Amino acid sequence: QPPNSQTEESCVLKRTDCRAKGGAPGFKVAILGAAGGIGQPLAMLMKMNPLVSVLHLYDVVNAPGVTADISHMDTGAVVRGFLGQPQLESALIGMDLVIIPAGVPRKPGMTRDDLFNINAGIVRTLCEGVAKCCPNAIVNLISNPVNSTVPIAAEVFKKAGTYDPKRLLGVTMLDVVRANTFVAEVLGLDPREVDVPVVGGHAGVTILPLLSQAKPPSSFTPEETEYLTKRIQDGGTEVVQAKAGAGSATLSMAYAAVKFADACLRGLRGDASVVECAFVASEVTELPFFATKVRLGRRGAEEVYQLGPLNEYERVGLQKAKKELAESIQKGISFIRK
Ligand code: NAD
Ligand code: LMR
Repeated sequence: QPPNSQTEESCVLKRTDCRAKGGAPGFKVAILGAAGGIGQPLAMLMKMNPLVSVLHLYDVVNAPGVTADISHMDTGAVVRGFLGQPQLESALIGMDLVIIPAGVPRKPGMTRDDLFNINAGIVRTLCEGVAKCCPNAIVNLISNPVNSTVPIAAEVFKKAGTYDPKRLLGVTMLDVVRANTFVAEVLGLDPREVDVPVVGGHAGVTILPLLSQAKPPSSFTPEETEYLTKRIQDGGTEVVQAKAGAGSATLSMAYAAVKFADACLRGLRGDASVVECAFVASEVTELPFFATKVRLGRRGAEEVYQLGPLNEYERVGLQKAKKELAESIQKGISFIRK
């Protein structure tokens, strides 16, 4: 316990009281894998988010150091650190939102699926903790391969009897962030003015940008379409190669994760029309999970939007995406059911 734990507790109580009285809202957020390449900048950015009143930082290494560091920031959230499996439950009790970037990243030459053997077990353990300690929390799952880890989490929650498909969201926001950036470059626009839906999943051909639905409405030559689609699909690999063995995207991912978590918190607060892309349980295709735009509300992904009109290039891409996705989803489900 830190020497000032009593002061800290009274601080949290005052803020919770303020929230109960209809004052500034504050949500309790846990980051699992908080000492990692994504976890650290994510923790810093969440500490700066005015919607967060309590921030729990959990990792199997270095959580106390990261917590001490971030706790000195003069922003509203109270920060607490939790180290190792024995402290997982304390990290999770009472949380409104749990963000999971725990697990190993890729090195050059690897696919995201090559991470399955290590990350599947990590995600299972962490989700068992969520089911036990905060079954009503919204879960933002970042750990790869997302196309399999989300089905794993769903199976863990089903087994525990706590599964609510609306509350489990695979984070595909980085694909949208990349799509907006690369499309803006081609169109000569400010990326903040661009919004490109990216559907399907989060690996290679399963990442399907819908350029025909880009905002502002734009037309692309076949060469531009091919270049943009490939660059968005291979964005993760571009970073893995540039980092040359030192990991994968961490800073842009932390930015994307905070953008998505903030949307989830605004939804929880009751804001209207909060819409982002995410990999969720879905009836949009014949697959049990699929990324599309979803409307975020008090209960999580309250509405899952249809794909909308696709052009021929996108229809072909959709068939390829579904084929690979079906296998990755089944692999995740089998990992728990076997
Ligand atoms: P990293 O190795 O830098 O950090 C991972 C952290 O997880 C480490 O601090 C490690 O100690 C921790 N960890 C390992 N096992 C744990 C456990 N059982 N409980 C809690 N924490 C544990 O890796 P990173 O660069 O931060 O990437 C993390 C994951 O995010 C990878 O799987 C990566 O592929 C994935 N990722 C996903 C996206 C996306 O768009 N969804 C983008 C980038 C990276
Ligand atoms: C990304 O898209 O950057 C992540 O999924 C990490 C990776 O392995 O590419």
